[in-house]
Amino acid sequence: MLSGTVFVAAALLISGCEFTNALKKADSAQGGGGTNNTGGVSSSAVTAFQTGFYAAARARCVACHGASQSPLFAVVNINAAYATSKTVVNFSNVPGSVILTKVRDGHCGANCSTNGTEWTGFINTWRAAEVAAGNITSAITPVQAFAIAAQDNLKWVTGQIVLSGNLPSANSGDRFERIRFPLSNLSPEDPDLAAAVVEIEIQKMIDGDGNRLYRIRNPRLASSVGMVQIKNIQVMINGRFDGIESAFADVDTLVTASAIPSDPSAALHTMPLSNKEILVLQDRGAGDKISLGFEVLRKADTSD
Ligand code: HEC
Repeated sequence: MLSGTVFVAAALLISGCEFTNALKKADSAQGGGGTNNTGGVSSSAVTAFQTGFYAAARARCVACHGASQSPLFAVVNINAAYATSKTVVNFSNVPGSVILTKVRDGHCGANCSTNGTEWTGFINTWRAAEVAAGNITSAITPVQAFAIAAQDNLKWVTGQIVLSGNLPSANSGDRFERIRFPLSNLSPEDPDLAAAVVEIEIQKMIDGDGNRLYRIRNPRLASSVGMVQIKNIQVMINGRFDGIESAFADVDTLVTASAIPSDPSAALHTMPLSNKEILVLQDRGAGDKISLGFEVLRKADTSD
């Protein structure tokens, strides 16, 4: 219980900082007479937000999300809009951003019945500016080889994906977020698997004892390059695997080739590899990096 409280306080502090930076930028943008302020790291990030994402939100979503409909990401006050907009995007998994679901689900008519490409572009441009400003790190970082050697039975690992602080929460009855791991950056590299991906669904959750956990289900693999053999999927947080409970150890199968949906937020068409749900301890919470390890992961011969 106590650690939960500390965690919430820390999260508030972080968003407070970002908000202050946005505020500084907005002040200089309004008072600077067109001068480009290169002093604050957030300046270019807020500008990127303003010209793409925010301009579209003000033009198309303002009737509701600029007035009284939560989330208020299209309000006239850009500082407030910037802070709120961060809660509907996911910079470490852009295709999994809540707002991309909403611009496709038809809930505001034509503007929300799109294929999501344009908004994906807005988010990517904004994200790139946040990365350039040093506010966030690039989403996928390679796992070091020592991490592989340190784990039993773990022969291949994916790159690490930074988890958002805004992951859906089981305690709020939210849905799961999908995360796709491209196998093009598998370690050690395997060019045969460059056109294959593994997907999981994830939520955060606090259990009855106050433990902060990730709840993970429906691992799937899709490969457009031929049949792939996969055995034992282990979930690592910040490069560490904390034991068998954090694994889909029941996975041991061959997956036939199938097309990978080009919309990166769409579910893979293949069957889940396991019906289990696993719970993995959070490490630091927001900013935790997740990666997957495999005991066997290889393109199978057609004769297999
Ligand atoms: C006519 C009013 C209206 C307009 C216009 C509108 N929305 Fe919404 N929006 C809603 C309502 C009502 C909800 C809450 C119910 C729901 O989730 O559909 C909502 C919810 C949302 C959410 C939160 C979803 C969640 O699960 O947290 C997002 C994000 C969103 N809208 C994005 C947009 C975007 C982007 C636009 C403009 C392209 C837009 N909306 C235009 C009415 C509107």
